[in-house]
Amino acid sequence: MARHLITSAIPYINGIKHLGNLVGSQLPADLFARYLRGRGHEVMFICATDEHGTPAELAAAKAGQPVAVFCAQMHETQADIARRFGLSFDHFGRSSSQRNHVLTQHFAGKLDENGYIAEVEESQVYSIDDGRFLPDRYIEGTCPNCGYDKARGDQCENCTKQLDPTDLIEPRSAISGSTNLEVRATKHLYLRQRALKDRIAEWIDSKTDWPILTTSIARKWLNDGDGLQDRGITRDLDWGIPVKKGDQPWPGMEGKVFYVWFDAPIEYIAATAEGTDAHGLPDSAWRRWWRLDEGAGDVTYTQFMGKDNVPFHTLSFPATIIGSGEPWKLVDYIKSFNYLTYDGGQFSTSQGRGVFMDQALSILPADYWRWWLLSHAPESGDSEFTWDNFQQSVNKDLADVLGNFVSRITKFCRSKFGEVIPEGGSYGPEEEALTQALTTRIRAYEGFMDGMEVRKSAAELRAIWVLGNEYLQAAAPWSTFKTDPEKAAMQVRLGLNLIRLYAVLSAPFIPFASDAMLDAMRTGNRDWPKDARTALDALPAGHAFTVPDVLFAKITDESRDEWQDRFKGIRD
Ligand code: 2FM
Ligand code: ZN
Repeated sequence: MARHLITSAIPYINGIKHLGNLVGSQLPADLFARYLRGRGHEVMFICATDEHGTPAELAAAKAGQPVAVFCAQMHETQADIARRFGLSFDHFGRSSSQRNHVLTQHFAGKLDENGYIAEVEESQVYSIDDGRFLPDRYIEGTCPNCGYDKARGDQCENCTKQLDPTDLIEPRSAISGSTNLEVRATKHLYLRQRALKDRIAEWIDSKTDWPILTTSIARKWLNDGDGLQDRGITRDLDWGIPVKKGDQPWPGMEGKVFYVWFDAPIEYIAATAEGTDAHGLPDSAWRRWWRLDEGAGDVTYTQFMGKDNVPFHTLSFPATIIGSGEPWKLVDYIKSFNYLTYDGGQFSTSQGRGVFMDQALSILPADYWRWWLLSHAPESGDSEFTWDNFQQSVNKDLADVLGNFVSRITKFCRSKFGEVIPEGGSYGPEEEALTQALTTRIRAYEGFMDGMEVRKSAAELRAIWVLGNEYLQAAAPWSTFKTDPEKAAMQVRLGLNLIRLYAVLSAPFIPFASDAMLDAMRTGNRDWPKDARTALDALPAGHAFTVPDVLFAKITDESRDEWQDRFKGIRD
């Protein structure tokens, strides 16, 4: 039994996530966590909401709520949706927690002690009427390039030109609309990443087994152009983690907070502590996952994220960890994803385009989505969600292959032998051949799952379901029964045992259907199959079961068209 720490990139608090966000980190991380638990390993699976930064402040302002209230509510909303999607976090934390305040301030203090923090003076726009500095997104004005009158201080949304706040014509505060602005000097802390470049490069070079998507992005940022840049880690905002050196004030940094990307990854550690706190456990309970000097030496740490997050996890967060000079656990493997596109365009949170997690669950159970998303995960390139493809995949894989198998065998048994596993007969050459084929495919499935090859794992699992259908088709117990009821009983016994085996193997992908299958088989035996032969004897003759309700209903053309139409627009 090994120990696995798994983290998913933590979703921004600014709104409910869309399916593209889900498939890029939380869902594949859940797949892996469930699989490793199923194999008997000790797993700590962590996620949280990313609650700081201007997007959080702006979303709260839009909702007309104080930011702390907005974040608390949205955290509960996201936690509830995650639970309904079957995301099996050991803890779903909050980056605004006290634990994260203390840890973030601790890391900043250590980095400073070790000479990796610089104080840099910058010019920034100050709003006299608002009494605060305005970060880029808080300044609006007319674009000097296209004349659009709602261009933001960092970029014009209309013509996409990158801007500096001082480029804007007639700049005004996005908070109050005030034009009473001036440029003032302010000091910020910078993380001296350049000074850590060699150590980070050496660390990345040692990761020869990482996916190319991950290492190519890391190397690009490390070596392209000017290479790794020092990075500002403080902001002039109210909402965030106050800048301190450990628990001491930081002279000159009064009223400033840490930049959201500095504290967000530290939340992986903090959320683990929030989780053990919630269980009333001592600090050693979370430190054994994170501190090499307190037991984390045998932990394997895997991170899941979309490709846009890779630079922060391959360069910035490691710079924080390495620069602290303390024995914190660094990531062992980073699994990153390309993008999922939606029906010929992009999913977009700001524009409300695509299907969002709550909407998805309002039309179909989680497993339908889990199956489609994982079996089409954007691993080697971007992938596209279309309603047609979704309908086909659900109807063929889930309804025709798996659901139909379960329904046929349980109903046939009930009609001829009752709701109990029938006695008689013994396995012959056909069953032997099936066992062999299953063994080969189960080992292949494990190989893909161990390697986090999501699409290949899904394809292999589907092939395992197909083996059951092919067997049933060839054995045809409904015909056998007429001439040799004992043999038919044996075939049915095998079929019913296959349902339990499928439930166990499929649980990481479709946990709700897996539970329903085990319930129907009236068993809590979730043992991962060491060998297929033994697994097919798990439920003995005489064991009672019930015919389950329809596991997967087919998606009709009418529903497909209706949903395509309903979700083509823009969410409010
Ligand atoms: O891209 C995002 O959704 C970020 N909120 C991810 C942060 S991951 C980490 F740093 F914690
Ligand atoms: Zn413009």
